[in-house]
Amino acid sequence: MFETNNRLVVLYGSQTFTAQEIAERVWRTTKVLGFRGPVQAMDDYPIAQLIKEEFAIFVCATAGQGDEPDNMKRFWKFLLKRSLPSNSLLKLKFGVLALGDSSFMKFNYVGKKMHKRLIQLGATPLLNVG
Ligand SMILES: Cc1cc2nc3c(=O)[nH]c(=O)nc-3n(C[C@H](O)[C@H](O)[C@H](O)COP(=O)(O)O)c2cc1C
Repeated sequence: MFETNNRLVVLYGSQTFTAQEIAERVWRTTKVLGFRGPVQAMDDYPIAQLIKEEFAIFVCATAGQGDEPDNMKRFWKFLLKRSLPSNSLLKLKFGVLALGDSSFMKFNYVGKKMHKRLIQLGATPLLNVG
């Protein structure tokens, strides 16, 4: 059914565990579907490996006033580096699930920005931001 080695990583940025729980739920579903790969906080994932990945799901909460959660700060800083070439993530196909609250001015800011930034770096979205 899958042409690749079935690897799919599920990465989350979560301040108060909601995104983490959802990421773990998504990950369990990916297992049932036959994918393998880790579920991790973005800052626990070795980011240099991202250029090799073919499939990834990002579950991103927005904290503070449009801020990234603490456990994705390093990952985020790296991803936003201007020096990264626009073809860095050509292999990657991804989906972003954004968690937020529409009563905040910067509703789902991190998830939306993640989606845009991954595209800027050459990755292909498999679906719109969820
Ligand atoms: C202190 C605080 C600040 C928040 N700031 C935002 C925000 O700027 N934009 C937004 O869309 N949601 C915001 N939210 C809502 C969270 O993103 C939402 O509750 C999310 O489900 C939390 O996920 P987490 O438990 O994984 O951190 C905020 C929530 C809290 C408690």
